[in-house]
Amino acid sequence: MATKVKLTLQEWTEGWTKWDIALYVGAPVALGLAGVWFYKRNKAKSGQGEDVDSKQAPSSVGTVEDKPAETPLEKAQAAKGKGNKYFKGGKYAQAVNCYTEAINLCPSDQVTDLSTFYQNRAAAMEYMSNYDGVIQDCTKAIELNKRYTKALSRRAKAYQQVGKLRDSLEDITTACILEGFSNQTNLQLADQVLKDLGKNCAKESFKNKKPSLPSKFFIKNYFSGFSADPISAMKLKTNLTDGKTGEVDGISSSTTEDLNNANTPNHTGLSNGVTEHSPFAQAIENLKQEEYDQIMSLCSEEIGLTNSKNLDMALLLRGTFYLMCGQLDQAQADFETLASSTDVDKKIKVNAIIKQSSILLQKEKIAEAFENFDQAIQVDSQNSDIYHHRAHQYLLVDKFEQALNDFDQSIKLNPSFPTSYVQRAHAVHKTGIVYQKLSALEEASKLFAEVIQKFPNYSDGYLMYAQSLADQGKFDDGFKYFNKAAELEPDNPNIYVHKGLLLVQWKSQLEEGCKLVKKAIQVDPKCEYAYEVLGTIDVQRGNMVNALESFNTAISLSRSEGEMAHLHSLLNAAQVQVTVAHNLGIDIPSVG
Ligand SMILES: *[C@@H]1O[C@H](CO)[C@@H](O)[C@H](O)[C@H]1NC(C)=O
Ligand SMILES: *[C@@H]1O[C@H](CO)[C@@H](O)[C@H](O)[C@H]1NC(C)=O
Ligand SMILES: *[C@@H]1O[C@H](CO)[C@@H](O)[C@H](O)[C@H]1NC(C)=O
Ligand SMILES: *[C@@H]1O[C@H](CO)[C@@H](O)[C@H](O)[C@H]1NC(C)=O
Repeated sequence: MATKVKLTLQEWTEGWTKWDIALYVGAPVALGLAGVWFYKRNKAKSGQGEDVDSKQAPSSVGTVEDKPAETPLEKAQAAKGKGNKYFKGGKYAQAVNCYTEAINLCPSDQVTDLSTFYQNRAAAMEYMSNYDGVIQDCTKAIELNKRYTKALSRRAKAYQQVGKLRDSLEDITTACILEGFSNQTNLQLADQVLKDLGKNCAKESFKNKKPSLPSKFFIKNYFSGFSADPISAMKLKTNLTDGKTGEVDGISSSTTEDLNNANTPNHTGLSNGVTEHSPFAQAIENLKQEEYDQIMSLCSEEIGLTNSKNLDMALLLRGTFYLMCGQLDQAQADFETLASSTDVDKKIKVNAIIKQSSILLQKEKIAEAFENFDQAIQVDSQNSDIYHHRAHQYLLVDKFEQALNDFDQSIKLNPSFPTSYVQRAHAVHKTGIVYQKLSALEEASKLFAEVIQKFPNYSDGYLMYAQSLADQGKFDDGFKYFNKAAELEPDNPNIYVHKGLLLVQWKSQLEEGCKLVKKAIQVDPKCEYAYEVLGTIDVQRGNMVNALESFNTAISLSRSEGEMAHLHSLLNAAQVQVTVAHNLGIDIPSVG
């Protein structure tokens, strides 16, 4: 969604200084997009908690002792030493034999040594890709030493290999908690497992999801992501019910000017014969009245007519609604009809191709998604929406340079579309976050300030500026601009969510933050992001039951598999952390 300014969880949690948020929202916080606050976060964490490593078994494949062996324990240790030599030499089968010998020789009350021998044998078997063996031996090692992080992380990796992701997550979460989230390797594994597990769960949820219309805000927001959506143009520029002629040429929206009349062909999607009561005319009328329920069926009716005069526009409108409802295959079919037809107005065609591309992206066909844009450029290289949306997609896959180039091109072709400016500034901001470059953050601030000067009535400008300020710790100013955004667009739920988050970050006001997020839900009961954030705040407050409920609601409202995957990751992280805390006998701390 082009104008969606929602930040990822990683982005906003980076501002949180309490290390224990990692415990609750899951490991992704701590890695991947390392933010500007990352160092601070680590610093806040260091020195906290006990050093688990020093208490546990000495690390596995370490020193080799060559003293003469006397007692059974010494003999076992000598066998281990031999095993370690083989291990270092890459002779894993021999190493396994030595460790087995060590295990057999070791007195059963020497639990620390014994657990090390099992762990070492597991390490050797890991190299031999014997994952079942790894799991068995690590299980033994963990039975003997519950806080043995090395064995836990090794078993987690083995579970991952054999596809037991839930078990893997539990182990790696335990290891992370025991280490106070200090081991990057383990955090990365946790992140990966959470992602993969989330994806699996999302596949299921998405398949079982019943199509439903998104909120009015969502729909409005979706259309505002295009400067030249033929549907918006029709809504604004025609009066279909009086039987007058509709025009696609001169497409414009409140924020855009006429683009490129000179290049527009004579053939328009909306013919000169919109009859007063055609199903399509009714669909457009409903669109104006924000009554969306019947639009798809009216379009289908129109498309079924033998001599429809508005076939192309009806296909575009229906496809767009299918897309917003998450019915991707149906949407794809409608867009494909338009994209492959030779005699479709090029604005309609380009719009269909861009939307098709977003479907491909959702289906993770990334290369194809980008190829689609080349196709669109061939149809009409002067359509700024192509570059704007391609830039947005580049941003989603962290290709900043390409994104910035495309935003530039989009602005050049259409200097009056504020969304491109604000997204461009956001792209600069994101590079600052990802590469921890303060200069980029400052440049972004300057760009945002320019946007709000140029478009003083454009609420997203204030919203994004506010978030950028908050990310730099300038909470006072951020707060001010969130208020300004809310003044301009009181029905935008995202503003309240962001403002709520700011209060949580700034003043640890969880209660106040929650209130604002709940206001977002009042404004838009289908705001999935609000439920996501509510769940995360509840995790902070230790209200795990509520948190799980919120995450589940968010999943049910979510419209894309990718978002569902992210939400399932949160849900899984929360669930597993509750389990692990219980297993370890530790409390669930809550902040504030
Ligand atoms: C982090 O964990 C890995 C196992 O996943 C281990 O090999 C490594 O030694 C640990 N690093 C530190 C600094 O403890
Ligand atoms: C559209 O036409 C109808 C019927 O002629 C008229 O009542 C209505 O006011 C018109 N709407 C606009 C926005 O011009
Ligand atoms: C558009 O087409 C109509 C008939 O199809 C023709 O009379 C008219 O001159 C054309 N206009 C332009 C600008 O080409
Ligand atoms: C912004 O909105 C106000 C009030 O609606 C209006 O008076 C003003 O002209 C608008 N400014 C711009 C630049 O559109």
